[in-house]
Amino acid sequence: MHAISLLRKFVPFLAVLAVSKASIISSDSSDASCTLTASGGDDAPQFLAATTSCSTVTIPAGTTLNIETRLNMTGRSNLNINLQGTIRFNPDIPYWTGNAFFIPFQTQITFWLLGGENIVLSGGGTLDGAGQAWYDAFASNSTLLRPIILTLNQATHATVENIRMINSPEWFNLVNECNDVTFNNITINAVSTSKNFISNTDGWDIYRSDSVTIENSVINNGDDCVSFKPNSTNILVSNLQCNGSHGISVGYALTLSFSVMLSTVRNRSLGQFAGVFDIVQNVTAINIKISNAENGARIKAFAGSGVGSGHVQNITFLNFAETKVDNPVVIDQCYETAAAACAEFPSNVIIQDIFFNGISGTGSGSQVASLACSPDGRCSDINVNNLKLTGAGGKTTYACQNVALAGNSASLFGTCATT
Ligand SMILES: *[C@@H]1O[C@H](CO)[C@@H](O)[C@H](O)[C@H]1NC(C)=O
Ligand SMILES: *[C@@H]1O[C@H](CO)[C@@H](O)[C@H](O)[C@H]1NC(C)=O
Ligand SMILES: *[C@@H]1O[C@H](CO)[C@@H](O)[C@H](O)[C@H]1NC(C)=O
Ligand SMILES: *[C@@H]1O[C@H](CO)[C@@H](O)[C@H](O)[C@H]1NC(C)=O
Ligand SMILES: *[C@@H]1O[C@H](CO)[C@@H](O)[C@H](O)[C@H]1NC(C)=O
Ligand SMILES: *[C@@H]1O[C@H](CO)[C@@H](O)[C@H](O)[C@H]1NC(C)=O
Ligand SMILES: *[C@@H]1O[C@H](CO)[C@@H](O)[C@H](O)[C@H]1NC(C)=O
Ligand SMILES: *[C@@H]1O[C@H](CO)[C@@H](O)[C@H](O)[C@H]1NC(C)=O
Repeated sequence: MHAISLLRKFVPFLAVLAVSKASIISSDSSDASCTLTASGGDDAPQFLAATTSCSTVTIPAGTTLNIETRLNMTGRSNLNINLQGTIRFNPDIPYWTGNAFFIPFQTQITFWLLGGENIVLSGGGTLDGAGQAWYDAFASNSTLLRPIILTLNQATHATVENIRMINSPEWFNLVNECNDVTFNNITINAVSTSKNFISNTDGWDIYRSDSVTIENSVINNGDDCVSFKPNSTNILVSNLQCNGSHGISVGYALTLSFSVMLSTVRNRSLGQFAGVFDIVQNVTAINIKISNAENGARIKAFAGSGVGSGHVQNITFLNFAETKVDNPVVIDQCYETAAAACAEFPSNVIIQDIFFNGISGTGSGSQVASLACSPDGRCSDINVNNLKLTGAGGKTTYACQNVALAGNSASLFGTCATT
C-alpha cells in the first residue's frame, strides 16, 4: 500500500509495527473494561494507568476527570476510550507552560499525546480545554505558549467520534505523524466570555500524516477550521460547518478558515526544516459551509529568498457554501512577500492540479477570488468551475496573476496580470 510505503520513508520505525485491522473492542473476557470515577484530585495518573491495563476505559456521564498533569498515551494499542462524561484540563498556566509536551513544529505545546494502533475515542462526552484563563493570559503575554487539547501522535488506525470539544487554549486537534485516522461527528466550540479573543483556536492541523478523514462536524472557532501543514497526504474533509474568525487580524497570527499552507518556517535561522521539501497532495474538501470567516478555500506559499520548497498537488475544493467570507477563493504564492522580492525569488513551492469547483455564496468585500501565483510558471492546471460568488455592495471582482486558468469560470477573471 503506497500510504504505508510513504510513511515508511519518514517514520521508519513505524514500518515495523504490524498494521492490523483487528477489531477494537474485543469480546474476549480477558480484556479488562474499566470505569473511572473522579478522585477529587488530579485524575491524570489513574487515567494513564487505566489505558495501559484496560482495553476499554469508560468515563461515565456525569463524571468529570480533572487533568492537572500531562497525559502521554503514545504507543497504546487496541484502546477504546469511552468518554461519556468530561475530561477537563485544569488551567494551571505555570504548570503547563513548563510541563506540557513540546511540539517543535510551529513551536506548540500539548496537554495530551494519544497514539499507537487501533485507538478509539468516542462516547458522546466532552473535552474541555478551560481556555478562558488562557485567552485572558495571552492578551497580556503574546509569547505565552498555550496547549493544544488533543494531539493524535503517531497513531495508526485511530477514530475520534461523537465528541464535543470546548474552549481549547490553542489548536483543538493536531494530527502528528499519523496514518489512517478518522474524526467523525465532532462539535468544536471556542467562546470567550471576556473581551479577549480566542486566538489560534484551529479546529484541526494535519502534519506529516497520511490518510486522514474529517467529516460530519461543526466548528465555531477563531482560526483555521482545518489546516493542511507540510506532508499532509490523502486527506478527505467532508460535510463540515465552519464559523468564525471574521475580521480578526492579530500580528502574524494567521486567521484562516480553510487552508493549505506550506513553508511555514520562513526564518531559516529557526532551522527546523531548512532545506526540507514539503508536500501537500491528494486533498479533497467537499460539502463545506463557511461563515463569518477571513478565508474560504485557500492555498498559500511563501516566496522570497531563503525559504523552503515543496509541492502542492491535486487539491479539490468542491461544493463550498460561503457566507460573509473576506477572501472566498485564494491562491497566494507570494505569501507575505513583497511583489519585487516575489519576482526576483519566485516561490519554490510548485502548485498544480487544483480545482475550485462549485463555490457559492457571499464575500464581505467586492473581490471574491484572488488567484495570485509567483512569476515563472510556478502554478499549473488551476481550474475554476461553477463559481457563484457575490461581492458586497453590488460589486463583484475576480483577480489573477501569472496563471493560465481553466474551467467554465475562467472567463470571470479576464486576463491575468503578469508580474
Ligand atoms: C511518551 O511515551 C512514549 C512511549 O512510552 C515514550 O517513548 C516517549 O518518550 C514519551 N514522550 C514524552 C515526551 O515523554
Ligand atoms: C509569557 O509567556 C512566556 C512563555 O510561556 C513566559 O516564558 C514568560 O515568562 C511570560 N511573560 C510574562 C510577562 O508573564
Ligand atoms: C454526535 O455526537 C453527539 C455527542 O457530541 C451525540 O449526542 C450525537 O448523537 C452524535 N450523532 C450521531 C449521528 O451519532
Ligand atoms: C459565528 O461566528 C460569529 C462571528 O464570530 C459569531 O458572532 C456567532 O455567534 C457564531 N455563530 C455560532 C452559531 O456560534
Ligand atoms: C529569526 O529567528 C531568530 C532566532 O529565533 C530571531 O532572532 C530573528 O529575529 C528572526 N528573524 C525574523 C526576520 O523573524
Ligand atoms: C515530506 O516528505 C518528503 C518525502 O518523503 C520528505 O523528503 C520531507 O522531508 C518531508 N517533510 C517534512 C516536513 O516532514
Ligand atoms: C495521490 O493519489 C494518487 C492516485 O491515487 C497516488 O498514485 C499517489 O501516490 C498519491 N500521492 C501520495 C503522496 O500518496
Ligand atoms: C487526487 O486526490 C484524491 C483524494 O483526495 C484521489 O482520490 C485521486 O485519485 C487523486 N487523483 C490523482 C490524479 O492523483
